[in-house]
Amino acid sequence: MNLQRRTFAIISHPDAGKTTITEKLLLFSGAIEIAGSVKGRKASQSARSDWMEMEKQRGISITTSVMQFEFNGCLFNLLDTPGHADFSEDTYRTLTAVDSALMVIDAVKGVEERTKKLMAICRSRNIPVITFINKLDRGAKDPLALIDEIERELNLICQPITWPIGMGRDFKGVYHLLNKKCMIYESGKNFLKQNPTETELDSLKNQLDPYIYSSLLEELSLIDNGEALDQQRYNAGALTPVYFGSALNNFGIKEILNGFVSYAPGPLPRYTKDNQIVNPDDPELKVFVFKIQANMDLQHRDRVAFCRICSGTYKRGQKIYHVESGKFLQNTQALTFLAQDRSHIEEAYPGDIIGLINHGSIAIGDTFCEKKNSSLKFKGIPRFAPEIFKAVRPIDPLKAKQLNNGLTQLSQEGATQYFKKMIGNELILGAVGMLQFDVVAHRLETEYQVPCLYTSCPYVIAYWISADNKNDLEAFIAHYQSQIALDSHNEPVFLATSRVQLQLVMERSKNIKFLSIQDS
Ligand code: G4P
Repeated sequence: MNLQRRTFAIISHPDAGKTTITEKLLLFSGAIEIAGSVKGRKASQSARSDWMEMEKQRGISITTSVMQFEFNGCLFNLLDTPGHADFSEDTYRTLTAVDSALMVIDAVKGVEERTKKLMAICRSRNIPVITFINKLDRGAKDPLALIDEIERELNLICQPITWPIGMGRDFKGVYHLLNKKCMIYESGKNFLKQNPTETELDSLKNQLDPYIYSSLLEELSLIDNGEALDQQRYNAGALTPVYFGSALNNFGIKEILNGFVSYAPGPLPRYTKDNQIVNPDDPELKVFVFKIQANMDLQHRDRVAFCRICSGTYKRGQKIYHVESGKFLQNTQALTFLAQDRSHIEEAYPGDIIGLINHGSIAIGDTFCEKKNSSLKFKGIPRFAPEIFKAVRPIDPLKAKQLNNGLTQLSQEGATQYFKKMIGNELILGAVGMLQFDVVAHRLETEYQVPCLYTSCPYVIAYWISADNKNDLEAFIAHYQSQIALDSHNEPVFLATSRVQLQLVMERSKNIKFLSIQDS
């Protein structure tokens, strides 16, 4: 059945409660029976790869996966994002595939660093954001101060939809400002779904501590203007509906889900590189790849390309055209996901994420459609200028070919970028975060059997270079050839040894365009 879609990601600073909320969203939608089962299964799953092992040991979430669940007549696609800042490129690309986001704020800590960065991305892409202020069961900051902090730090207008009744040990539930009902929860029922008791505000007078009750009334008199959500400003990404609760204790989770059903947009149009709009009601299937993930399961030693459906309908067994290779894929068996489980999908619609299994033929940014079309390419799936570099060579010189294969595949996945220097053919790895190197070194050794030596490089940044006039580019490359390399797409980059040098070279080379972001 073609239900309405809500395709979103959760953005937050590590430890704010993203994993807990994800589990509770799955719990309340009925997708899982007992919260904790996603984590529990993770821990006991022995068939996970070493790479996943590494992720587990370090207690970080490196990979991005997608979870599908139904709630109140909507089909939700929740795209998970890595918590660690070193994998921010992954997060950025995931945000190209969503229509809205859920921002989680820790009520004890307020607005934190990573939230600011992720919100800046959402703002630049006008992604509408719903806010959940979590951990109200702890000694949290005052809710009014939190609202003020979000407005100030994130330059985002807040419109509270729910308001906490009590805080810390006295946290009883939330008052819904639009339907004027109080949702009272029982704490201590962490892992089981529980529905709140709905009651009128007046009837709390005899149930609550008089101080809590009078504070609540006072706060409500300040914030409750009786207005419906300003949908237009929310859609534009300028205003955020705010919900309070405690994910661990199940407080306020259902309200977020209802908020998504009521306010979050369905599938939005996407733009191609030649500035054409692809509307979700366009009947032709059009899809882009925003993520490649290897080793989701050791029993399936293959790669899954996560694709966002922008228009049309995907049907199991369908023949689809891969624009980059100019070939049709016959009888495709796309996957759908519930956490780490995968199963074949019969049909998928705009907003859905499907997984295509491949053995290295699909890269991030690739496009699929129904008819032969050599120019369809979606805009805005970026590669960022790396800022950390290491020269790499195999310990066994006879393994140069395996190293090349490994690096090609890892760069198609967006796990690293690599550059071949014009002079001497030296291979340079480039990353945005240090941990990316560790993952790449580990995977080269375990998956591609190429242990390597990594040595430091004198570079601090790589900018892509181009020019309107071919001769200008050739002259520049000839002049700076010791600092020119080709990336995995054979596009030239300038490797700068300092920011000052980059600045000087840019000033001297007015005919050359220097780019810090390149489309995939
Ligand atoms: P993350 O994915 O954003 O990094 O956060 P995660 O859900 O792992 O939560 C981080 C910690 O915060 C966890 O505790 C989790 O139990 C706790 N937490 C989440 N929501 C709430 C809440 O509403 N109230 C309170 N008091 N705590 C909450 P931990 O001790 O680090 O891990 P665990 O042993 O509980 O798994």
